[in-house]
Amino acid sequence: MVVGKPFLTVEQINKKVKELADRISDDYEGKNLLAVGILKGAFVFFSDIVRLIRVPLYIDFLVASSYIKSDTSGQVRIYYDIREEIADKDVLLIEDIVDTGITLNYIRERILMKGPKSLKICTFLDKKERRQTDVPLDYVGFEIPNEFVVGYGLDYDNKFRNLPYISVFKKTA
Ligand code: IMP
Ligand code: MG
Repeated sequence: MVVGKPFLTVEQINKKVKELADRISDDYEGKNLLAVGILKGAFVFFSDIVRLIRVPLYIDFLVASSYIKSDTSGQVRIYYDIREEIADKDVLLIEDIVDTGITLNYIRERILMKGPKSLKICTFLDKKERRQTDVPLDYVGFEIPNEFVVGYGLDYDNKFRNLPYISVFKKTA
């Protein structure tokens, strides 16, 4: 297994997170923001971005998984669901990467059934080419090509999440 040089450096990441946080801060002025981190992958991005958002917010998490190693299983499981009341909240889902869109689409529909005041999605990475289900994305950090990436919260087989930058993952025999 090889984890190479940065595909996105710490500097590029920090700059982008700040830009997204500024846009979110402007858009959510006077609203009742509930930021929901989708775990595990979004844990690093989530903790970076919420600390840069300049409006009051609630936080909660949702633990979901649809992935077996680097291949999607297409099956979404929820291991922990939002506990906060959402009827009076402007919910912002915070995700690490959107790939086929299956996970986020499932989560989005599930939350919409509970009738939030509003629902928007922020993803750090968007692998658009791989999309199988359309999901409306409101805030996107970087659009990336169809490569498997690790670091900044993203894993291969639950490893490499602690890498401070994003790297393309190449599997060797
Ligand atoms: P989707 O349902 O296919 O959109 O898958 C989304 C989830 O798959 C993400 O939240 C990640 O956990 C995982 N995933 C997709 N692409 C990658 C990648 O390149 N590296 C690491 N995880 C990925
Ligand atoms: Mg994820």
